[in-house]
Amino acid sequence: LTDAAILRRVLVLQKMDLFAHLAPADFIWLAQHVEEVSYEQGEVICRTGEFGDTMYGIIEGVVRVHRGSDELAVLGEGDFFGEMSIIDSGPRSADCTVVSAAVLLRLHKEQVLTFCFQNIEVLRSMMRVLADRLKGVA
Ligand code: CMP
Repeated sequence: LTDAAILRRVLVLQKMDLFAHLAPADFIWLAQHVEEVSYEQGEVICRTGEFGDTMYGIIEGVVRVHRGSDELAVLGEGDFFGEMSIIDSGPRSADCTVVSAAVLLRLHKEQVLTFCFQNIEVLRSMMRVLADRLKGVA
């Protein structure tokens, strides 16, 4: 990775509420360790019932969260998804489909958990979003 690529990722990560309280060194570590993945319009990132041990942050594009034709949420830049399977080690709770070409950061379960344990604010943000989603207000 070039310095420019790392900087670009840091700028994206800093836009994510989830990481609002990280120290500069954490952003650089994350930028060096996350994977960047691209999806075309219509591609399915995860399906209800599948095993999942990754979480995604949206750099660019729009992702629809649904169960079949039942829409749960529409997510965009700065949002994340896939946290539920990481939290309960259960199957994916919904389908996530790309609405417009998306660039995503993919984090593995161990990376997410390490961050949550080291940064209580990351855990708090994740729990807040989880609660909103479960209450149906997100
Ligand atoms: P996970 O269950 O791992 O995979 C599907 C993801 O869709 C889930 O994590 C959440 O990130 C997201 N999701 C599930 N239900 C909702 C909801 N009601 N509102 C917003 N996002 C949701």
